[in-house]
Amino acid sequence: MSSRTYPETLLRETVSLFSVYGDFRSAQPYGSGHINDTFKVDMSLAGTKVSYILQRINDTIFKQPARVMENIVRVTGHIAVKHAGDPDASRKTLTVINARDGKPLARGPDGGWWRMYVFIEGARTVDLIERPVQAYKAANAFARFQNDLADLPQPRLYETIPEFHNTLSRLAQLDEAAAADVCARKAKVSAELAFVDAHRAEAGRLIERMRAGEIPERITHNDTKINNVMLDDATGEGCAVIDLDTVMPGLALYDFGDMVRTSTANAAEDERDLSKVYSRLDMFEQLARGYLADAKFLVPAEREELVFSGRLITFTIGVRFLTDYLAGDTYFRTSRPDHNLDRCRTQFKMVESMEANAAEMEKIAKDAANAS
Ligand SMILES: Nc1ncnc2c1ncn2[C@@H]1O[C@H](COP(=O)(O)OP(=O)(O)O)[C@@H](O)[C@H]1O
Ligand SMILES: [Mg+2]
Repeated sequence: MSSRTYPETLLRETVSLFSVYGDFRSAQPYGSGHINDTFKVDMSLAGTKVSYILQRINDTIFKQPARVMENIVRVTGHIAVKHAGDPDASRKTLTVINARDGKPLARGPDGGWWRMYVFIEGARTVDLIERPVQAYKAANAFARFQNDLADLPQPRLYETIPEFHNTLSRLAQLDEAAAADVCARKAKVSAELAFVDAHRAEAGRLIERMRAGEIPERITHNDTKINNVMLDDATGEGCAVIDLDTVMPGLALYDFGDMVRTSTANAAEDERDLSKVYSRLDMFEQLARGYLADAKFLVPAEREELVFSGRLITFTIGVRFLTDYLAGDTYFRTSRPDHNLDRCRTQFKMVESMEANAAEMEKIAKDAANAS
């Protein structure tokens, strides 16, 4: 949730643009997402409470919200059809509520782009993993998500953020920022730039294997944090994968790698005490087992790179933090001096931790594959 606040009259007016039933009761800020502004809307229909999620799409990040929504409509529609017969079909994916003009988004009275979803009841998200089994359940949900989308009919989804996880173009952006050095910070990051140089040789590995036809392009989520999976209150199972803004063509390994980056981290992304920062093997084991239990579609080259993908994505995010630090903190929101540099350092420390544990992680991944 951003710090932006909205008067209730604006939210009420925005809701009235959508095809919802009943009388408006309330709209409250909801969840802890960092990208969109999210509200829970309660309506009353014949005495019964019906809830929705109302979101203002972040148009700084998503320049073409209509394309984002077109992707989401296709993806959620496809998953819904796959699960049409299931007992709790309506909780298996997001359900988009159309605006009264039939479009899946509406321009609000504030000029922003808004959308609504059915509120998924009886499930919740967690921001931090409380028990390792939640890592298993989330990874399993992402595997099923990719599996469900493996046969999405053409055309290709829009690439809503081009080159999102492309490490080589991220390195090119870093080199530009370092050359420009607009804030005269380069001298302070010589250790980090040396770390980058020591890893350049492997930065293109997945892209090269994709170009060689060994790794296929798939439909991926691209933001596989634990809090983007709704976990069922009663069973703890992952029911719906949410936050579909960045669903687009990509590599399955990017999704797995970002799970490894976010869910195995022992410390916060901006922890300053690097002795606390490492990648947890027990969490990695849960992720590998949960993912491989349902990621039946993986080809051998993808399986070979599961462990590497964790290092690559973590390195890539570290490169992005470093780039933003050099460019003067223009992309990631910062709340203290050197915030982006601290974030870069945690990512690079995570990479080191994964490098030190590489053999052990490979063994865990192999055992998980055999168990699946
Ligand atoms: N359809 C839904 N039903 C119930 N809760 C939801 C739904 N959509 C989102 N949420 C809650 O709102 C939070 C923020 O939504 P999300 O789409 O992830 O936004 P952001 O992109 O800002 O992270 C989620 O973590 C989840 O707790
Ligand atoms: Mg989210």
